[in-house]
Amino acid sequence: MTTTTSLPGGTWTLGDATVTRFGYGAMQLAGPWVMGPPADPEAARAVLRDVVELGITHIDTSDAYGPRVTNVLIRETLHPYPESLFIATKVGANRDAEGGWPTARRPEDLRKQVHENLLALGVEALDLVNMRMGDAQGPQPGSIAEGMETLVELQQEGLIRNLGVSNVTAEQVVEARTITPIVCVQNMYNLAHRGDDALIDELASDGIAYVPFFPLGGFSPLQSDALSRVASRLKTTPMAVALAWLLQRSPNILLIPGTSSPAHLRENIAGAGLALTATDLAELDTIGR
Ligand SMILES: NC(=O)c1ccc[n+]([C@@H]2O[C@H](COP(=O)([O-])OP(=O)(O)OC[C@H]3O[C@@H](n4cnc5c(N)ncnc54)[C@H](OP(=O)(O)O)[C@@H]3O)[C@@H](O)[C@H]2O)c1
Repeated sequence: MTTTTSLPGGTWTLGDATVTRFGYGAMQLAGPWVMGPPADPEAARAVLRDVVELGITHIDTSDAYGPRVTNVLIRETLHPYPESLFIATKVGANRDAEGGWPTARRPEDLRKQVHENLLALGVEALDLVNMRMGDAQGPQPGSIAEGMETLVELQQEGLIRNLGVSNVTAEQVVEARTITPIVCVQNMYNLAHRGDDALIDELASDGIAYVPFFPLGGFSPLQSDALSRVASRLKTTPMAVALAWLLQRSPNILLIPGTSSPAHLRENIAGAGLALTATDLAELDTIGR
């Protein structure tokens, strides 16, 4: 069995816990377009068992995945949870019958979502709740205050241990931090989408984690000539290079790549440990510019 410390990237202090920088995003365990159950629930459970056995201690989920599907798979497979396991979830959106992600951010919506996450995951307090803003198009301007204040109340009631934000603008990060300490920002970021470069550096200097979603491109796998060139020179895959690049990009970056495949999970762990040289980094730096 791989131990925690042997995972690439080592560990990071996320609020009141220590997690492996190599984590796991559970969204891909639900059915197509993150709706309904997976075709093979036992295969999904096998991936979750492997995640824990390989030493990963950070799982990212949401009750909107399925909806409820990934949270229930996590509880059925891993509960009672190992002491070291940290499960991050997010609130701020529901699902509609067409598979859309309508925003749901009124205080009563957020309270309901927190209680649904507690029930589905089978815990008395959630390790981390991210206040998710924005929509399918990405972050949208607007105040995050009402949502953060509601989550702070739920934290004071003992239902949440740590708070973060997701799908946010840099201004919303600043506003959230005037209301309460946050332990992470979870936004879309990868080799080809580097809009948060300045934000990542700022958060790093303040000891706040940055958790990129879609590290491999999400529903559209990352494609770039420079990435393919570097991968073939290093005799590896573009995914390995993309994950290794993120780990090397900044010490506050935590990985949550998604996969429904035990083989890909192992490949991604091995790949993320790749050492990229200054030449590789310079070539990769040309992507998306
Ligand atoms: N906060 C937000 O608004 C938000 C939005 C989206 C996602 N998220 C979180 O971010 C996590 C990561 O995002 P994601 O899972 O959508 O995207 P991702 O990690 O960028 O990519 C996942 C895709 O890559 C494939 N893949 C993974 N490893 C591979 C490998 N070694 N070889 C070939 N294909 C591979 C997966 O297919 P296989 O299943 O076949 O491996 C899957 O289709 C999610 O799980 C979720 O927890 C958050």
